[in-house]
Amino acid sequence: MAKIIFYGGKGGVGKTTCSTANSIFYANKGLKTLLISTDPAHSISDVLEMKIGKKIINIRENLDGLEIDPEYEAELYIDRIRENMKTILSNVIVEEINKQLDAAVVSPGTHESALFDKMAEIIIDKYDTYDIIIFDTAPTGHTLRLLTLPELLEGWMGNLIKKRKNVMAMDKMITRKYKEKDPVLEILEKRQERLSSIKKILIDNKDLTIRFVLNAEQLPIEETKKAVKMLEKYNLPVETLVINRILPENIDDNFWVKKKIQEKQYLTDIENYFADKELIRIPLMDTDMNKSTIDSIAKYFD
Ligand SMILES: Nc1ncnc2c1ncn2[C@@H]1O[C@H](COP(=O)(O)OP(=O)(O)OP(=O)(O)O)[C@@H](O)[C@H]1O
Ligand SMILES: [Mg+2]
Repeated sequence: MAKIIFYGGKGGVGKTTCSTANSIFYANKGLKTLLISTDPAHSISDVLEMKIGKKIINIRENLDGLEIDPEYEAELYIDRIRENMKTILSNVIVEEINKQLDAAVVSPGTHESALFDKMAEIIIDKYDTYDIIIFDTAPTGHTLRLLTLPELLEGWMGNLIKKRKNVMAMDKMITRKYKEKDPVLEILEKRQERLSSIKKILIDNKDLTIRFVLNAEQLPIEETKKAVKMLEKYNLPVETLVINRILPENIDDNFWVKKKIQEKQYLTDIENYFADKELIRIPLMDTDMNKSTIDSIAKYFD
């Protein structure tokens, strides 16, 4: 049964670097690991210098990768709605709604719902195949908010199902005909089933953990405080903070000495405010992160 780790954090703090390095760390330890990017900019491909796409591929021993493209998933998602609709509604209405669905494909809400569905599908399908599933999220920050969806949607779906059952009961009373299968109810129930399986894995089983990457600077610290509060309100645990790009100790240049003093104050702020969290500290490296340098960061996740 997989442990699921989500990496979040402000734009550019090092989410892709740290999630990739962390997955290499687990793979080196012999754990079967799946690294998934939900960023349309497809950055794990860039770091690992290989083409990773919509299908799971092997990256190295014990490590597989996958990139989810929210735009592509949104199209599939809307197509599924179109198919479902055809079985329920008359042709005239279908045509009218189709026009509206064309517009929905490009709306951000659709991308998020489609992304959530895809993430849920992978977690449910691959839960038994991998020891660890790591998600590198996009900088917009919306991906983590998606994790609050099962909690919010479950009650809502329950209500829709109840209402649909009432409508069917009324229909039966009026027409005195008993319909064995109702396509609307089937769709609603299937969706509710998926929601409760994902909720069970993520929340009830406590298999989910969220890691925040930040730099020892004012804005990332403020943003992390807010995000952690929001997630914990939904019982989504942020157990670990990864402080990335820590300056070296022995500096003699005046400018960097001053920077280091400031950084130490921010580090103390992080240690005090997040006293209950595990802190992982990653130094600033003298090169960009790529296929040959990423391993040098993996060891800090021990
Ligand atoms: N510890 C480090 N030392 C040196 N360079 C680093 C370190 N961490 C990250 N970088 C570099 O900083 C840049 C941004 O890192 P990364 O892409 O991991 O951030 P991100 O949070 O995923 O960004 P985005 O929000 O755009 O997805 C990259 O060029 C990466 O190579
Ligand atoms: Mg990234």
